[in-house]
Amino acid sequence: MGSIALEDPVVDPSPLFSSRVHRWEPGAIRSLLPLEAVPGMLSLVAGKPNPATFPVTEMTLTLRGSNEKIVLDESDLSQGLQYGLPGGNPELIRWFEGLQRRVHGLGEDASWSCCIGNGSQELIHRVFQVFTDPGDLVLIETPAYPGVVGFLRADGHHIVEVPSDAHGLDPVALERTLAEWPVHSSPRPKVLYTTPTGSNPTGQSCTEARKAAILRCAKRFNFMILEDDAYYFLNFEAKKAPSYLALERHVNGDTGRVVRFDSLSKIVSAGMRLGILTAPLKVVQKVIRITENINLQPSSTTQLLALSLLRYWDYSGFLNHCTQTAEFYRHRRDLFVAAADQYLQQNASWEVSTAGMFLWLTLRLPPGRDSFELLRRQGMESGILAIPGVAFMPKEQKMCQIRVSFSLISEDNMAEACRRISRLVESAWEEKSGGARE
Ligand SMILES: Cc1ncc(COP(=O)(O)O)c(C=O)c1O
Repeated sequence: MGSIALEDPVVDPSPLFSSRVHRWEPGAIRSLLPLEAVPGMLSLVAGKPNPATFPVTEMTLTLRGSNEKIVLDESDLSQGLQYGLPGGNPELIRWFEGLQRRVHGLGEDASWSCCIGNGSQELIHRVFQVFTDPGDLVLIETPAYPGVVGFLRADGHHIVEVPSDAHGLDPVALERTLAEWPVHSSPRPKVLYTTPTGSNPTGQSCTEARKAAILRCAKRFNFMILEDDAYYFLNFEAKKAPSYLALERHVNGDTGRVVRFDSLSKIVSAGMRLGILTAPLKVVQKVIRITENINLQPSSTTQLLALSLLRYWDYSGFLNHCTQTAEFYRHRRDLFVAAADQYLQQNASWEVSTAGMFLWLTLRLPPGRDSFELLRRQGMESGILAIPGVAFMPKEQKMCQIRVSFSLISEDNMAEACRRISRLVESAWEEKSGGARE
């Protein structure tokens, strides 16, 4: 796939911006901080602590496997323990912009950029603020990642569910919803939120053909695609679909309708809280404006740790680490599916996950029973914890599904977990009819 040429038309996303985003003013102090880097400048601006008072002068990262060490000295730490810029560490941002060029074929043009956030979760929340006002309608891939549904509900958003299946989000359902939209009574939604790789909860990924159809739909109906790809690097498929970001220009002949979220949580550390936004420049600028007013910046310290590792790895080392991590989870997926094949066939069905950490089980429950009630009443005494499907349904429909995670459970316990889920289903039938299956 070639890179984006300078002359490709770039769509301006700002007409879709919310009213509330225009109310954020530049932070009085933060907006001056970049000027401190101007040669010869004497800055009396920031209330920065003096690094001479920082009690730590050195940190050492020891790498798993090789035992190699990355030493951060006092001059590194004078920045890493200090306030930084609201959009993130400039070198780290440049690193990720370079990554997006390599991985998604983005060009050198200034129409897009990256910024860093405290996890992708924070960035997703910020981007919703950029495009929506409380109460607005939003299109959400369903079953949906509850971390997003939670804040959308609290903001009074009206969620329009768009169904997904084993091939990802359904473009036909999306198109039908938008084509039949009662435009005289309410405008069409401005954003579609989707988790295209290894969806949380289903573990399924969207195909290239479907992404292309959804991109065409975004152009036709003028909405933004919020591509939350937290599991992008944990893809087990031999032929991986390109991202929306990579496909946009080839499908639509222009760019500017895709906002992409990456996360270091699943591949480097969840506790470092580092996520990456890749978006049209105006969107990134608005997100930074919100950050400088709310929580000032992502952590300088964890950004420095990540940057040191990424400098050490370079792109090839990083991508190699991602491949090995994906292989680690693919192996666990295979073991879990083998245990499910052995102990759960009678009592559940599933599609094998193509990426991520989850398997989405459809329990064969008696009519009228649902997984929430089952787990609530019998999960504890059966010694099994899993997430009931209703947690992933924005409209809280009762479901027979449960989400199980194979990321942490020991190999030895996988079979026992599947046996316990199986017994749970059997207990529901016993309760219903003294054991007789219909
Ligand atoms: C689909 C999805 N998006 C976003 C997140 C949040 O990731 P982060 O840790 O980068 O905030 C998660 C976390 O589990 C997730 O599953």
